[in-house]
Amino acid sequence: MIFLKIEILIEEAIDALKSNIDDTAIIACSGGIDSSVAAVLAHKAIGSMLHCVYVDTGFMRKDESNEVKEMFANMGINLKVVNASKQFFSELENVTDPEEKRKVIGEQFIRVFEDEQRICGAKYLVQGTIAPDWIESGGGERDVIKSHHNVGGLPDDVNLIIVEPLREFYKDEVRKIARELSIESSERQPFPGPGLAVRVLGDLTPERVEACREACFIVEKNLEKAASSGRCELPWQYFAALLPVRSVGVHGDVRVHGETVVVRAVSSLDGMSARYSTIPHDILTEISTEITNKLKGQVNRVVYDITHKPPGTIEWE
Ligand code: XMP
Repeated sequence: MIFLKIEILIEEAIDALKSNIDDTAIIACSGGIDSSVAAVLAHKAIGSMLHCVYVDTGFMRKDESNEVKEMFANMGINLKVVNASKQFFSELENVTDPEEKRKVIGEQFIRVFEDEQRICGAKYLVQGTIAPDWIESGGGERDVIKSHHNVGGLPDDVNLIIVEPLREFYKDEVRKIARELSIESSERQPFPGPGLAVRVLGDLTPERVEACREACFIVEKNLEKAASSGRCELPWQYFAALLPVRSVGVHGDVRVHGETVVVRAVSSLDGMSARYSTIPHDILTEISTEITNKLKGQVNRVVYDITHKPPGTIEWE
């Protein structure tokens, strides 16, 4: 698809948005590449008819909300921040099945959009859906791998016309568009729409999500530091997930029955397939030590995932 010059693709996408949208449109901006590219294209196409919303679900990474606010301010795009974390946590109480989780999250996003629709009278919802999202969400002959929250996770009763300007693009292509548009997050690693909710397996309590947030931060910080000093290559995606698996450990001479963090790092081109990254053991040791020290009493075991995609997927849910 990308034999056309990137500037032509951008122009075509903006023209298509201009002719498809004749009224106010909402877009949820997470700060990730896909929704940021969709927002910038839509902003170029319809200007002030675009209503950008950042939904703080409670499942964002450390400092993410402030970074996203700053990024949009730097691009001169107005961004409304909606703190919906109470609502997300309460609707996800006792929900542990990965598909059900994604459905509940998709539905809660829509409930927030509906509230915004009442405020700004929007007719359209612009989404940053890319090709792997709908391919993996099933439909037709395809099997559902996981319902990406911006596709299969949406409820049927959405009262907004969905517009998806990036539907036919893959991640590497969207990244090229992001670079061309000088979007700050163009080099950022992907982060799933449902956020840390799909990296905390088992009960989604604020304490467990906070532990996962801290572990993700430690993995990101250590790998970025190691890569910048030439100790390893920066993986395509790298994070931690919290597993509801308890094992016996010892801190000093005290028995601990704590949970498990799995560290995941992969190389990939477009997320459709991936190979686990071979991180040097000394870097893994630093990550493991920092996680068990920081989360003392809560996490006493750290493991490294050595599964390619397929047969695994990149995320654990
Ligand atoms: P999987 O886990 O399916 O992930 O191998 C492939 C890529 O997609 C990201 N991912 C998502 N992105 N909404 C998104 O916007 C989602 O629901 C979602 N689930 C997974 C994942 O982080 C990886 O980069």
